[in-house]
Amino acid sequence: MMVCLCHPFSDKKVREHLEKQGGSARVSTVYTACADGEKPSCCTCLATLKDMVQTHKAGGATA
Ligand code: FES
Repeated sequence: MMVCLCHPFSDKKVREHLEKQGGSARVSTVYTACADGEKPSCCTCLATLKDMVQTHKAGGATA
């Protein structure tokens, strides 16, 4: 599933970066890592990304 369309990346890429960043993962750091250094444009995807980060920190699956 694509998470961001402005700087396209998928949920798979988000999960990879969540694993790398572990407990220090934040929406901004995960976004920047997934988008190859770019900043969010329309910000539509940030709610989904925030949910994935919170679920990750809670120890759950990030599907
Ligand atoms: S969909 Fe992610 S910044 Fe627009």
